[in-house]
Amino acid sequence: MTYAGSDVTLGFALKGNIRLDASTTPCMSASSDTTQEDDINEDELCILTDLHMSSDYNSNSDCQSLGAATLVTFLRREAARIDASLAAEEALQVVEYGCATGGSSLVPLGAIQDSISDRPLRATMNDLPMNDWATLSSTVEPALPEIDFAYAKTSMYNPVSAEATVHLAYSCYAQQWLSGGAPTTLPHGALWANQLARDNEQRKVWEEKSRNDWERFLTLRAKEVLPGGSMVLHIQSSMCDGSLSEGAAVTLQEAKCRMLRDAELTEDEAASIVIPEYAKSPVEILDPLYFGPNARFWSVEELEYVRIPCPFMEEFGERCNEPLIVDEIIEKQMRALHAFMDSSLEDCGCKKETIKAFWAHVRAIVDTNPSSLSVDIMGTFIVLRRRVAAVHD
Ligand SMILES: C[S@@+](CC[C@H](N)C(=O)[O-])C[C@H]1O[C@@H](n2cnc3c(N)ncnc32)[C@H](O)[C@@H]1O
Repeated sequence: MTYAGSDVTLGFALKGNIRLDASTTPCMSASSDTTQEDDINEDELCILTDLHMSSDYNSNSDCQSLGAATLVTFLRREAARIDASLAAEEALQVVEYGCATGGSSLVPLGAIQDSISDRPLRATMNDLPMNDWATLSSTVEPALPEIDFAYAKTSMYNPVSAEATVHLAYSCYAQQWLSGGAPTTLPHGALWANQLARDNEQRKVWEEKSRNDWERFLTLRAKEVLPGGSMVLHIQSSMCDGSLSEGAAVTLQEAKCRMLRDAELTEDEAASIVIPEYAKSPVEILDPLYFGPNARFWSVEELEYVRIPCPFMEEFGERCNEPLIVDEIIEKQMRALHAFMDSSLEDCGCKKETIKAFWAHVRAIVDTNPSSLSVDIMGTFIVLRRRVAAVHD
């Protein structure tokens, strides 16, 4: 089987542990395992990666929880609007894409529940097969016992639900991960292609991969979300010029550069240490909603583009007079980075000691300065409505 993203002819080594797992693709069931559905061509299925958040992600995802809390304002409005349009007793069907272990799902799901009338609420939780599904179900089910949960263990770049069955789709801090892993290695100590110049050839490959993923996501969801239904997304974003806003990214790149300088890494090893995320600018997010086939199916109802304050730096500001606070905050920041980066670092083919040395460099650079690990990430909150009738180009 082939995949367009692996057909890179620029001479960069393709990295990562990738697999295509048709047995765990489309539609979900409450009994959790997924089965192949109708007319999906296997060759078109998305390659799955071993990407997963750490099992302690729920207690190390303060930034992501902040994004989810912001998403709630939009979710409440859309849930209430859809609720008013449904027949009495009809169940409202919600899907979350990239839910991880569910800690950040509780507030959005609770808000949706509170915004609708007394009708059944069904929530399908989607993530990659390597997700910690046991932690997910033990997080969401006891906390929200009135919701009927199902689990879809596949890529969001594959069909997830049956056609025209979803009323409200949402996702938070997940759509920036590239399907199938990193498309190329990266030069100059970069961990993200956003850290390279706009005309860099490798960056262009990541950019194109990201555009293809985003368009595919919109196309798949247009089939699954009912006309009149909504998709509410928080998309981790770049600055408008395509660069990254967060201080932590600079520090992580500096750690790689120091290892290269000190010959602790070869150029090849350094180039393979990457995180397969691409942060889109608002222009890149809006482009397929203005041009091309997806514009026919989705209308943009709301969009908010903001720098989300770093929760660790806010806590530091509030508690700066406390003794030992510097170490406590830096420890929290380091744990948060480990929680979302470790599986990608393990996947890049380096020895365990190399990764350990990388983190030691990060810690040495930070020294006593938590702002060098700040995660003040740009976020795009966007509400898309599935048009009742597709408009013509
Ligand atoms: C940073 S976590 C965010 C989790 C949660 N939404 C939150 O805000 O805390 C990103 C999640 O997206 C998932 N993810 C990445 N690529 C995915 C894909 N192609 N399909 C489904 N989930 C994906 C990852 O496995 C991970 O659990």
